[in-house]
Amino acid sequence: KSRRFSILTFILFLLLLTVTAAAALFASGCSGTEHADGIVPPAREDAVFNPISSNEAAYDSSSFSIQDISRGNLILINSDYAYTFQDNGSLTNVFNNQTHSYSVRSKDIELNAEVIDALNSLMDDFQARSGLDTINLVSGYRSYELQQQLYDESLEQNGLEHTRLYVASPGHSEHHSGLAADLGLIFFSDGSSAEFDGTGEYAWIIDNAPYYGLIQRYTEAKTDLTNVASEPWHLRYVGLPHSLIMKENDFCLEEYIEYLRNFTYEGERLNYE
Ligand code: DAL
Ligand code: ZN
Repeated sequence: KSRRFSILTFILFLLLLTVTAAAALFASGCSGTEHADGIVPPAREDAVFNPISSNEAAYDSSSFSIQDISRGNLILINSDYAYTFQDNGSLTNVFNNQTHSYSVRSKDIELNAEVIDALNSLMDDFQARSGLDTINLVSGYRSYELQQQLYDESLEQNGLEHTRLYVASPGHSEHHSGLAADLGLIFFSDGSSAEFDGTGEYAWIIDNAPYYGLIQRYTEAKTDLTNVASEPWHLRYVGLPHSLIMKENDFCLEEYIEYLRNFTYEGERLNYE
């Protein structure tokens, strides 16, 4: 009787073993995505978005010196912030590097190389669509001494009120940076010249400059912020996509620089598509 009992126990044990083995096999069949090291990746909807690794993929690391704060296409130069007269890109002769869709008043005018490229493209496209060859580049890079001379001449000819509105104090002009270009008009039929007022056919230049990285720096609407009167002729290079973000938000450079303070490495990013 007791032998029969032990055979029954043995059979039950075998049955239990078979069921356990079958269950284990079934379970391993279900978890087919299990990695060799035993880590099971989460299902798609459970995947955790990891902002750290995402940031690492989106950013490059660069080192900057304190002087670099005063370099680059976005530097703010106005009555409050003087130019620091450091290397800010490569000053390049315009006459030797221009396309033939516009003129230059003097063979000595210089601008940063990147600005000449942008101006060439803007002028080429303007001439192609308008058929006009009347744009004359009248001013680019200015030394401190040249700005002083222009300031003194204006003071003598136009008085202090006008000069303060239209001519930056020496050291405070964007022209020191090689990033600003003044346009004028020249008419080859009679050799006369005129101010570039950005009206009529020429409005296209002001409206479309941002697609080339350039902006009308001083507009009527922003004189309280820029402390300069409206100057349709003064184009400032800030580069793409900054010029387009400024256009879309109707920001002058003072406002755009303030806006950029909202975006930090750890915080919200500024995306432009
Ligand atoms: N006309 C601008 C303000 C300058 O002198 O730089
Ligand atoms: Zn200017």
